[in-house]
Amino acid sequence: MPGIVLVGAQWGDEGKGKATDLLSGRVDYVVKFNGGNNAGHTVVIGDKKYALHLLPSGILSPGVVPVIANGAVIDIEVLFSELEALSARGIDVSRLRVSANAHIITPYHRTIDRVGERFLGKRQIGTTGRGIGPTYADKINRVGIRVQDLFDEGILRQKVEGALEQKNHLLVKVYNRRSISVDEVVDELLTFADRLQPMVTDASLELNRALDQGRTVLFEGGQATMLDVDHGTYPFVTSSNATSGGAATGSGVAPTRFDRIIAVVKAYTTRVGAGPFPTEQSNASGEYLRSKGFEFGTTTGRPRRTGWYDAPIARYAQRINGVTDFVLTKLDVLTGLERIPVCVAYDVDGVRSDEVPVSQSDFHHAQPIYREFPGWDEDISGARSFADLPMSAQEYVLALEAMSGAPISVIGVGPARDAVVVRRDLLG
Ligand code: GDP
Ligand code: IMO
Ligand code: MG
Repeated sequence: MPGIVLVGAQWGDEGKGKATDLLSGRVDYVVKFNGGNNAGHTVVIGDKKYALHLLPSGILSPGVVPVIANGAVIDIEVLFSELEALSARGIDVSRLRVSANAHIITPYHRTIDRVGERFLGKRQIGTTGRGIGPTYADKINRVGIRVQDLFDEGILRQKVEGALEQKNHLLVKVYNRRSISVDEVVDELLTFADRLQPMVTDASLELNRALDQGRTVLFEGGQATMLDVDHGTYPFVTSSNATSGGAATGSGVAPTRFDRIIAVVKAYTTRVGAGPFPTEQSNASGEYLRSKGFEFGTTTGRPRRTGWYDAPIARYAQRINGVTDFVLTKLDVLTGLERIPVCVAYDVDGVRSDEVPVSQSDFHHAQPIYREFPGWDEDISGARSFADLPMSAQEYVLALEAMSGAPISVIGVGPARDAVVVRRDLLG
């Protein structure tokens, strides 16, 4: 079972880092194929907690080769500071491979992200301010800087010059900021070149060869389906393809090599930043989920918006990604609730819609139609088999499974590495 894709089903923070970590002992490569240090994955191993942003979660497992592939965007300063922080905690980071084709986040991308957001006023997206959108915009505009450019100073200078020509007009005349000189950008990027060079590779070639040799490769998505630039709640999305198709374009490994597509989904829903969220609870229930689930951003520390499970979204994620298995996380957070509402369909201006409406305006108006399930009081964090769960927790999971379009193969019952109920082997 060599090619496995793992993505988020909702608006991010479903627990992808923990799910990757769960599989890492049995995979050879973990590949980050989209996004950059906008991601925040918390992984708990024993009494140690790790927060990963740019690095694939697989870096924590000694047998894994972590790869940052072409579809990701790299802030090199952040890359080295994350590597140093992990090294200082005794993690061997020497195996990291970086695609020569990945794009680089430069200081001007960060500035434009932050100032651009301010200029949007009420239409703000609430980005992480890490320069993600402007870097992908330059990639599509064909004025981006790639990892390989760092090893040819002449080319690098030409490209930075080309990129800054327009941007300095924007920064100075529209945003009222100081202009950025070609030299300061080039000099900063070159300071990292020698350290980066040994990690740089043709990641597509390396990964395809690994698959040819029967190795197992896990493609770990950042962000999630509803934040995907094509399939999410545009424009309130990130700027990359976080869905399973992005694993192919973002790594140079063809879709025919993917054997299993895993989507991680929370037993309720959260979202960071602006945009529609039909099941959001801006009330005591939402506060309960936030405090019990500790729903604060790993990257920006912002409180996450919280709400109930949305089955049409899970079904949508199943369809867009071709999900073969769900990992349902944070079931333990629901313990103690008397009744648990689940959105089964929407009322859109008086008309029932069983699917996520294609029109963004309709989705903004969509009122959830809820079905309520009985809760449970028993502590489930020690459950290790499905039968260990109280009957109403079992019924809740089975109902979600029936509504969501693919088997729920793993259930998370706590943050720790072993706090899971495995119903079906994800790699078997
Ligand atoms: P990611 O971005 O998808 O990797 O998710 P985050 O790491 O941003 O957020 C998920 C949070 O939930 C992390 O703090 C995890 O440690 C935690 N977590 C993951 N699975 C479970 C679970 O089953 N139960 C509980 N209580 N916490 C979990
Ligand atoms: P993980 O991988 C949750 C959100 C931001 C904002 C929008 C665009 O931890 O699940 P960006 O900086 O990407 O241009 O911001 O996307 N966002 C995330 N929300 N989890 C993430 O990553 C996110 N990455 C970006 O809050 O609304
Ligand atoms: Mg996260």
